[in-house]
Amino acid sequence: MDFLEDASKYFLDVYKRIPIKVTHGEGVWLYADDGQKYLDLLAGIAVNALGYNHPIIKNAILSQLDKNLHLSNFFVQDIHVQLAKKLLELTPFEKIFFSNSGTEAIEGLLKIVKKWGNQNKKSKILTFEGSFHGRTLGAATLTGQEKYRKNFLPLLPNVEYVAFNDSVALQDVIDEETCAVFFEGISGEGGIREISSEMLNVLEEGRKKYNFLIIADEIQTGVGRTGLFYNFERYNFIPDAIATAKGLGGGLPLGAFLVSEKLAHVLDIGEHGTTYGGNPLACASGLATVQFVSDKKFLNDIATKGLYFKNALEGLKQKYPGIIKEVRGKGLMLGVELHRSGLEIMNLARKNNLIFNVAGGGSVLRFVPPLIIEKEQIAQAIEILDLVFSQIN
Ligand SMILES: Cc1ncc(COP(=O)(O)O)c(C=O)c1O
Repeated sequence: MDFLEDASKYFLDVYKRIPIKVTHGEGVWLYADDGQKYLDLLAGIAVNALGYNHPIIKNAILSQLDKNLHLSNFFVQDIHVQLAKKLLELTPFEKIFFSNSGTEAIEGLLKIVKKWGNQNKKSKILTFEGSFHGRTLGAATLTGQEKYRKNFLPLLPNVEYVAFNDSVALQDVIDEETCAVFFEGISGEGGIREISSEMLNVLEEGRKKYNFLIIADEIQTGVGRTGLFYNFERYNFIPDAIATAKGLGGGLPLGAFLVSEKLAHVLDIGEHGTTYGGNPLACASGLATVQFVSDKKFLNDIATKGLYFKNALEGLKQKYPGIIKEVRGKGLMLGVELHRSGLEIMNLARKNNLIFNVAGGGSVLRFVPPLIIEKEQIAQAIEILDLVFSQIN
């Protein structure tokens, strides 16, 4: 494999590469240089919400291309304002900041949280075991998986990790000192685990009693992925802030954080910023994506297709109880926990022209397809998975 040898010659060895040389994508399909065509349930790791080569995205980028590629945040441009306005209309938040990535959105929020904590004499930040919030040092500190932290100590102080879905442990640790709790409504990298309603109740009641900040990491769950525009919309409370990225840019690098009135004026001029964040091309692609995905019918379709997919996976669980332990997730963010490592299944599926990856330490098959996937394509994926499970049974 020449191209893989080249990669290991030139690049840091931090990625496990997929041995396919993709030439282009179209809809939910990836095409490779050997003539093979793959059904893509990875979607650039939950990024390509409208799949590949969508005309709406392409046209939005092309029309911005005629104006400028980059001006810096010294200038406000129409495209920034349009996207900011749309996101703030879709959510209960007051203000927004654009970044380039998810981890940068988390870093920005951490700065707001820390400044607010200093003003309110609160320093303890809580996060959950098994979580993933990004790879810069602040976000890595919040990530509740030791393997992402252990070689980079010391990290940020005053961060504590609470057992996921242990509402008693959460209740025990929150107090007057608590400044903020960061959480994923459904963990992505951690293995598609959904936060329980008991945990959400403890967060809601705890915030009333102790006045801490609830920060939802919607980087993977956001922009329609779970069948709502943002997953927190199904809760009984509104978080104080959210981080969003991945699907937001429709394939171009774009992240953001959105904050409530309580946090809208914490940062002063010069206390935060970015050269590239909110790049106009990314915002143009983002606006087209957000307009498309936020349509109520499209969101309902995601929920319906997701349920169809989940039921079909449940069917496979009935058929292969020795392989499949549990099916989890919402909308088009689904996971299949196995009784074994998922690597062999992932590789066999790829040989049968189906692409996805594993999460949760390797034992969870993660499915985050383009949101435009159709029922027939989901049925095709299930057929391939059935074949693969029958071969390893
Ligand atoms: C929930 C969550 N938070 C944060 C991140 C980090 O985002 P990025 O890779 O864009 O920095 C990810 C990426 O996988 C994520 O899934």
